[in-house]
Amino acid sequence: MSLPCIQSIPWKAFYDQDISLNLWREDLNHPLISGNKLYKLRPNLKKALLQGYTQVLSFGGSWSNHLHALAWACREYGLESVGVVRGEVGPVLTPTLEDCKMWGMQLVPCDRQTYRRKEDSDFQDQLIKQYPNALIIPEGGSNLDSINALSELWQVIKEKAGSFDWIFCATGTGSTLAGLQSAADYPCRLVGVQAVAEGEATLERIRGWINGRAKHLEVWQDAHLGGFAKITPELSDLIYQIEHRYGIPLDPVYNGKTLLAIYRALEQGRFKSGDRVLMIHTGGLQGIRGLTNSMKVARQKITSPINWNFD
Ligand SMILES: Cc1ncc(COP(=O)(O)O)c(C=O)c1O
Repeated sequence: MSLPCIQSIPWKAFYDQDISLNLWREDLNHPLISGNKLYKLRPNLKKALLQGYTQVLSFGGSWSNHLHALAWACREYGLESVGVVRGEVGPVLTPTLEDCKMWGMQLVPCDRQTYRRKEDSDFQDQLIKQYPNALIIPEGGSNLDSINALSELWQVIKEKAGSFDWIFCATGTGSTLAGLQSAADYPCRLVGVQAVAEGEATLERIRGWINGRAKHLEVWQDAHLGGFAKITPELSDLIYQIEHRYGIPLDPVYNGKTLLAIYRALEQGRFKSGDRVLMIHTGGLQGIRGLTNSMKVARQKITSPINWNFD
């Protein structure tokens, strides 16, 4: 198994402007459930064991990286897992849910209207009654325990790779960014790139978690390309090129969009000469399985080659 490490990307468009572009390969931290998930789940599962729970219950869609990781991690920790799945489950399972089932997760379908109420106390009370032995953790595993754990990632990166002028990471709930920000101890522009089109909500949520410590944080709201999991020809082409030139796999939902946002920022002259830029690869590679066809179709729409100025 490889370890997370820093990888410099020798992309001409960047070094022409004297900007060093680097990737923190947190996707390499585990062959099955890579990225931010281990950080998020470890403290929650330890808590479940310490408090005597035998199950962990959480929420997600049928391609959820979180449910996928939860199912695997619970099995490793000797816990049972329950996944409340948004929408239909089956009759044919997605490969993500197939894995979850194989790792022992009990899959509970939940219609979309009810799913939207997953944080409401009456729905949570009902779940507690139904699953009295389960620790219930929020969608994405995003809570104060996981944010505390993710603050360690800041220290790991600083120790192994030094300091940066810019650090980018994809946001869903924003908890990964919140964890990084809560540990940030040198001036650096910490930027979240939204995968979900939710305006100010990401920043507000982060402020709710870490309050005053979110002062210098930025969340870019204009890089989701029309919404969660929406794919454009440019995104698809960039992901293809990055994999073929540098051997780096990027998922289109989170990390592909983050790298595209960084490239657009370069084009707009937002970096200055000498800047060290880091993108944290947050994993999510299992989710690619649901989007290979859309990626292919999107790329087929490209009529003349895109000039990314790679070399
Ligand atoms: C691969 C990947 N990257 C980034 C994120 C965003 O993480 P967060 O919800 O902590 O913002 C997620 C969401 O869970 C994810 O699956």
